Amino acid sequence: MKIITDIITEGKGKRVYATENPDEAIVYYKDEAIAFHGLKRGRIIGKGEINNRICEYMFTLLSQQGVPNHFIGRVDERSSLVRRVTIIPVVVKVRNIVAGSLARRTGYPEGTRLNNTVIEYCLKDTELDDPLVNLTHITAMGLATAEEIRAMESMAVRVNDILTEVLREISIELIDFKLEFGRFHGEILVSDEISPDTCRFWDASTHEPLDIDRFRRDLGDVAGAYREVLHRLTGYAYQTNEEEP
Ligand code: TMP
Repeated sequence: MKIITDIITEGKGKRVYATENPDEAIVYYKDEAIAFHGLKRGRIIGKGEINNRICEYMFTLLSQQGVPNHFIGRVDERSSLVRRVTIIPVVVKVRNIVAGSLARRTGYPEGTRLNNTVIEYCLKDTELDDPLVNLTHITAMGLATAEEIRAMESMAVRVNDILTEVLREISIELIDFKLEFGRFHGEILVSDEISPDTCRFWDASTHEPLDIDRFRRDLGDVAGAYREVLHRLTGYAYQTNEEEP
């Protein structure tokens, strides 16, 4: 039993609590969904429990493949124990296929396969909508060192390779995703979450999104898509007694 103390931080999809161990924290996954700067809010029934299990699967896979990350273990249906890192204020986005802000920014059609993997760096600042920055901004502003950037980039590429392969086997295309990294006793760990809240997953045959875009774009059956991803990844059939809206 871990003794939970204060809330360290609360984001769109989760709350992070301190524990009595200064090196550990508890991540609690919420059903709440927020998009467009908080202008759109809703609840995806079961999302918290499903994302908790998807993250357990993803981070365990990364550990097995030798990618250092913050995950220690799942505590209960909605929470997991993680290493208490200091988050580097740079969001790393990895893209295989054009979608989202890349399509909007460049006019390239959504769904276009990129000739090579695109890595983007953004300043982690929700108020400013995580603006794109380049490597010189990051070092100039002291957000991360050149060595840390190299470590983040090579881990991001590894994560992309590992996830693309695993998802391909279950007929899911990994369109893009974002990662956050944390500092922990001189090491850099993949942190935050890897779930349908932070990745674009498309069904390989229908090209239908199986992620938070279903909520953003009112495509319907959002909870069903989250359940489907969990089920294909782990075989676990999530069930709830709650009525879906
Ligand atoms: P974008 O195309 O909107 O820039 O998103 C790229 C990836 O980053 C996509 O997989 C979703 C993820 N992402 C988040 O996890 N949180 C966010 O707030 C945003 C805007 C994107």
